[in-house]
Amino acid sequence: MQVKKAVIPAAGFGTRFLPASKTIPKEMLPILDRPMIQYVVEEAVAAGITQIVIVTSRGKEAMADYFDRSPELERALAQKGATAGLEEVRRVASMAEVVFVRQQEQLGLGHAVLCARPAVGKEPFAVFLPDDIIYHPPKSGIAQLLEVYQQFGASVVAVEELPREAIRNYGAIEPREVAERTYEVLGLVEKPDPAVAPSNLGIVGRYVLTPEIFDCLEGVRPGAIGELQLTDALALLLKRQKVYACRFRGVRYDVGTPLGMLRASLELALTRPEYAPHLRRWMGDLLHKSQ
Ligand code: UTP
Repeated sequence: MQVKKAVIPAAGFGTRFLPASKTIPKEMLPILDRPMIQYVVEEAVAAGITQIVIVTSRGKEAMADYFDRSPELERALAQKGATAGLEEVRRVASMAEVVFVRQQEQLGLGHAVLCARPAVGKEPFAVFLPDDIIYHPPKSGIAQLLEVYQQFGASVVAVEELPREAIRNYGAIEPREVAERTYEVLGLVEKPDPAVAPSNLGIVGRYVLTPEIFDCLEGVRPGAIGELQLTDALALLLKRQKVYACRFRGVRYDVGTPLGMLRASLELALTRPEYAPHLRRWMGDLLHKSQ
């Protein structure tokens, strides 16, 4: 079955980005010329997804405005003859059908996904965490997961090989390799002690999920800090059906922290012809001066 819908949980507090995220939604912070969330929307659209459900919360209305039309701005740009800007703002508002659902209380990633249930219904769907940006043209992170989904007809999580010590911040899988970069998931543990983690393959921000995940999310008890974990629901799903993991090709930037965003901004700027020559020159000068 074709995956046509995506859920983007974007209701969190973004505490690692304070104070900037106090009044600006973290997902609206820019990487170069566009907000973080646009990168994942573009990744979804390029992979054939036509309906996007953004899970949001109080104070984050800027996201809804961003994906809406802005006739006044469009008129002003047209009058000035700013054709490129005009095309760009129109494109943003027409990339996909974007709907918003509210998470009334930040009860965790699993709970945010559950909030999207009425909008998703009974079909498979993709999940994108907007603070994980995966750069791998021409085959994006989600495109690689969708291939695994088409092959096995089961849920797929994105995994990355992490340093042993780092696995304590991720969900870890117990893998059985079934093809190149593809694993059957035999078990999952959220934030394991590195000494007993089942592997150093950590789950990162892309998923393709079957709709049965919603019943599993209903059945999950909140964890230590009162949050519903998506990994715990996946562990329940595993008792009902197979789950696979895709060790995607490409670089993942954790743009949920200032340092991660700085790295992504610099590396992505080097891939853009309008920025790259300037950045190379400035960085060359800067590195020379700081030696
Ligand atoms: P994160 O933990 O990376 O984001 O969740 P956060 O909670 O906003 O940021 P920190 O940890 O406080 O710095 C991954 C994604 O899940 C969303 C977040 O908005 C983010 O995009 N999320 C998280 C929700 O939608 N609801 C929640 O209750 C928690």
